[in-house]
Amino acid sequence: IPVEDFDLVIFGATGDLAKRKILPGLFRRYVAGQITDNCRIIGAARSQMDDNGFRAEATQAIAEFTKTPADDPQLAGFLKLLSYVPIDAKGTEGWAVLKERMRSGVVRAFYFSVAPSLFGDIAERLADNGIADANSRIVVEKPFGRDLATAKALNATLARHFHEGQIYRIDHYLGKETVQNLMAVRFANILFEPLWNAQYVDHVQITVAETVGIGGRGGYYDQSGAMRDMVQNHMMQLLCLTAMEPPYHFDPDAVRDEKLKVIRALEPVGVDDIVRGQYRARGDEPDYLTDAENPDSRTESYVALKVLISNWRWQGTPFYLRTGKKLRARTSEIAVVFREPPHSIFDDDEGQRPNELVIRLQPNEGMNLKVMIKEPGPGGMRLVQVPLDMSFAEALGPEGADMPDAYERLIMDVIRGNQTLFMRGDEVEAAWAWTDPIIAAWENGKDRPEGYDAGSSGPEEALRLLHRDNRRWREIAA
Ligand code: BG6
Repeated sequence: IPVEDFDLVIFGATGDLAKRKILPGLFRRYVAGQITDNCRIIGAARSQMDDNGFRAEATQAIAEFTKTPADDPQLAGFLKLLSYVPIDAKGTEGWAVLKERMRSGVVRAFYFSVAPSLFGDIAERLADNGIADANSRIVVEKPFGRDLATAKALNATLARHFHEGQIYRIDHYLGKETVQNLMAVRFANILFEPLWNAQYVDHVQITVAETVGIGGRGGYYDQSGAMRDMVQNHMMQLLCLTAMEPPYHFDPDAVRDEKLKVIRALEPVGVDDIVRGQYRARGDEPDYLTDAENPDSRTESYVALKVLISNWRWQGTPFYLRTGKKLRARTSEIAVVFREPPHSIFDDDEGQRPNELVIRLQPNEGMNLKVMIKEPGPGGMRLVQVPLDMSFAEALGPEGADMPDAYERLIMDVIRGNQTLFMRGDEVEAAWAWTDPIIAAWENGKDRPEGYDAGSSGPEEALRLLHRDNRRWREIAA
C-alpha cells in the first residue's frame, strides 16, 4: 500500500549516509510501489549543484548500493522525484528557494543527515522561514549527544521548534526485521512469556560482533568508542526489547514507556563487571591505534559487561552484553539461556543441557531453540541436545529472502507518522544517565583497554567475566 504523498527534504544529501542508505532505501520503496510519482525528494547540502547534478549522484549511489543499472526504467521514474537546493545551514542561502519548493497538502519530512552541531541551526531556519508546519516531521540520526548533558541540550534545542510527536530519533537497530521479530516472538506466542523471567531464565547474552575495524572513520570513532557508538543506543535497545514488560498495545508511547522502565531499573555497572578491549594488528591489518591515527588512544573498540536489572521480573538474572570491532565473525544475536529442570528423573543425565533460545539478528536471521531429546539407539535413556533451528528466509519463502533494510522501514514509518520504532527524548537521556558514569570512570582513570588479536573473540578478561559466574560466552561464529 503506498504511503501518503510527501515532500522529503534530506539535509546532508551529498553525505555518506544519504548515499549508502537513504537514497537506495527510498528507491527500493519506490520499486516496491510504496512511494508514488506524486512524492518529492529534495536534496539539500552545501555543494553547488543543480537538479541534474544531484540526480547523477543519486544514480551512482543507487547503482553502487542496490546494483541497479543506470538505464533501469524504474530508476528513471524515481529520479523524476528528485531535486536539489544548495543551502547554507548556518546562513541565509537557499531557504527561500526551499520554501518555494514545498507543496501544501502533503506530508512534510526533514531528514537531518548532518552533524549534530547543525541540528539547532536547521531547526531554527525551518521554523523561522515557515517551512515546517505543525504537521511536519524531523528525523535525526545518532550520535544523539555524547553524554547526558549534550543530549539534554540537543533535546532542548529541538524542542524550541518542534514538539516530541514531530521528532523521529533514529536507532537503525529498531528498523531491523529481526529486532521487531523479537517482539513478535515474545508477545504473539504463549510459549515463551511465562518463562521469560528470573525464575526460569539463568542469564541472557547479547552479542553484536563485527569483523570491520574503524579504518576510514577513526576521527569519529576515536572520540566515541564502543560504549557510545554501540552500547548506549543499539545494544540498549536490544536489551530493552528483551527485558521489557509486555506493552498494553503495540503503540509508540506504550512501547517506549516499557523500554524506559527497563533503562531506569538498570543497576550502575561496577568496574569489575566491565571489560574494555582494543584490537591489535594482525598480518597486514593495522592495529586500532594506527586506524585511529592516535598512538595514545585509550578508546575501546570492544566492550563486554554484566548488566543487572533491578526489578521484580529480572532480579538475579544477569544480562551479559558484548560488542566489538575486528572480531572473528560478523554476528548479532540474543541468547536466552534457561535454567536446568529442577529435578532429573533420568539416571544417565550427563547430556543434560539447559534450554536456550537464540534469536539471530544477522546474518541468516532466524531463531534456534535448543531442546533435549533421547539419543537414538537401544543403549538406554541417554539425553542429547538438538536444535530446533529456523531460518526466517527459508520459513517464509521468497518474501523472507527479501528483508527490507532498516532504513527503508524507518523512513516509511516517518511518513506514516508512526513513532513506535524511534527513540523518545526521555529514553535517550535515561540511557546516557546510565552510560555516563561508566565512561567517566574510564576517562578519569589511567587504565588502558586490554589488547585483543584482530580476528579473535575479544580480550581474555571478557571470558573471565562469565567464568567467574560459572557461565560461558557462546562462540562467535559465522
Ligand atoms: C553504527 C555504528 O551505528 O552501527 C557502527 O556507528 C556500526 O560503528 C554499525 O558498525 C553497525 O550496524 P549494522 O547494521 O551493520 O549492524
